[in-house]
Amino acid sequence: MDRAFRILCQSETRRLLTLLGLTAVLVLVVQYAELPYGKMLFLIPSIHKISNSQIETSLGYSEIEGNNNRSNASSLNAFEAMASSPAPLSSALAPETKNFTANDVISPVNNIDFTSLKIEPPSFAPQFVISMTSTTALGSETEPRNPVISVPSNATSVKSDATKRGYSSKSRKDNPTTGKTSKKRPSKVVSISEMNLMLEQSHASFRTVNPRETSGVDQQIEQARLEIENAPIIEKDSRFNSPIYRNASIFKRSYELMEKMLKVYIYQDGDKPIFHEYLLDGIYASEGWFMKQMEANKQFVTQDPGKAHLFYIPFSSRLLQLTLYVKNSHRRSNLIEYMRNYVDKIAAKHPFWNRTNGADHFVVACHDWAPAETRGRMLNCIRALCNADIEVGFKIGKDVSLPETYVISAQNPVKNIGGNPPSQRPILAFFAGGLHGYLRPILLNYWENKEADMQISRPLPHVRGNVNYLQLMKSSKYCICARGHEVNSPRVVEAILNECVPVILSDNFVPPFFEVLNWEAFAVIVTEKDIPNLRNILLSISEESYLEMYKRVKQVQEHFLWHGEPVKYDLFHMILHSIWYNRLFQTRH
Ligand SMILES: *[C@@H]1O[C@H](CO)[C@@H](O)[C@H](O)[C@H]1NC(C)=O
Ligand SMILES: *[C@@H]1O[C@H](CO)[C@@H](O)[C@H](O)[C@H]1NC(C)=O
Repeated sequence: MDRAFRILCQSETRRLLTLLGLTAVLVLVVQYAELPYGKMLFLIPSIHKISNSQIETSLGYSEIEGNNNRSNASSLNAFEAMASSPAPLSSALAPETKNFTANDVISPVNNIDFTSLKIEPPSFAPQFVISMTSTTALGSETEPRNPVISVPSNATSVKSDATKRGYSSKSRKDNPTTGKTSKKRPSKVVSISEMNLMLEQSHASFRTVNPRETSGVDQQIEQARLEIENAPIIEKDSRFNSPIYRNASIFKRSYELMEKMLKVYIYQDGDKPIFHEYLLDGIYASEGWFMKQMEANKQFVTQDPGKAHLFYIPFSSRLLQLTLYVKNSHRRSNLIEYMRNYVDKIAAKHPFWNRTNGADHFVVACHDWAPAETRGRMLNCIRALCNADIEVGFKIGKDVSLPETYVISAQNPVKNIGGNPPSQRPILAFFAGGLHGYLRPILLNYWENKEADMQISRPLPHVRGNVNYLQLMKSSKYCICARGHEVNSPRVVEAILNECVPVILSDNFVPPFFEVLNWEAFAVIVTEKDIPNLRNILLSISEESYLEMYKRVKQVQEHFLWHGEPVKYDLFHMILHSIWYNRLFQTRH
């Protein structure tokens, strides 16, 4: 199957593609016959309508696209349909639990309020099949089964032990499916101004709590907070004098104090590869780069826990999934239990966790499942998460929205940055990507092939190094960052690196470094329900405002860059800073 896929992706002729596609589908159908509906799918006469483009789309990332043919356009692909669980959890699920599969839910290890759950019986197969072959099904958003097989991983020369062991992180969206059910539109949409308010309240609420600062570390924290609150107003000619910051004076002061004071203790506990190992490429690379640079750091790391302001739990959510997720098991309760056991262990062995109930502990985790893996006791930690979704428990002012960075070359993570000047950006809006989640089919339905200046499409044909994709970003004014299965997308950082103004189309997504950056100054935030107005919204932005935003995108770029050796204000320092900043303003219980 592996080979069949590679050939599929490279072949030029449609006929061969069709034949191979059919073969692949047959093989898959046979392979998945263990699923209750596998056999039934096999019998559907219309199965031959599943086109090559659909199969490729199911792989989901522009890296390996072969054929962008629209003729058989269906918004649901065969793999997703087959992989998707036929038993949807009720949309009435509490937000905290909606990510779980039925298996997770019945497991005793999840700390879930069972009373809030309703599990519906499996819907009926024939219905499911009909919707699969129709062109409008928006329901399935399950990840493709194991697309890692079709991704060449030899392009990366910097490899961690984990990579040597055969784990690949190359693909754009490559975690195996949970068989989890459709995530519906969020029931409540929190606007960006409401998020701003939540941040203010989170920090303001601190003052209403009487701090019982006793230790030296606590006094330092209190001191730093006071200095930040009374930060001197920055000079006009300061490099920080830019609207990209919420409050440049505060950021500058807080950053300086971090450099001067911050000490981090790193737990040595935890077995490899889940702890102390990392992957440096692919879409989950942020957690890997952070871990590598944190563990190697001399300035901030202390061996003396008595001096530490923060305690780092160095786990990789990606390696946790690659190591422990049982393929096709459709359950991740064992992953959650693994993390829970870890916390129990460090809380029993060291005095640090119990002192604050974990509030001065932090994790940095980019995999989609990280919010689930850090539930329970770990909810009290500062969690830097790519999947920064208010609906799944992300706490503004405590948790940190971790930028998802798609690192193609771990040796040169800042390769190809930059883009055309504004005058050479003829495309108004650009998006290319797989139809993950409920939103993208809607986006494409409205805008694919509708207007000449709206370059909205499925994944582009594969070109080595993703050149097509990057060229379009570099030639577009606005880049649409539409949510996929989860709220986050590597497009936000890609847009910034290619100097394309990001358009965030993902309700309840908290943008990266929200506590520091003023996203409205350099990005456009469009609510999902405004997809039909997308073009009008963008056209209504004056040339002058666009040029301002373009300039600010270039200013903010330095905060989204990985460097082999960390440099001031880069991504490593920004992540650490946001954790530090939220620690300072944390409410004590
Ligand atoms: C930024 O924060 C400082 C320190 O708290 C404050 O004095 C100043 O007014 C703030 N500036 C803005 C623009 O809010
Ligand atoms: C921390 O608290 C737990 C109970 O929540 C207890 O079992 C554990 O022994 C405590 N750890 C230490 C180091 O005292």
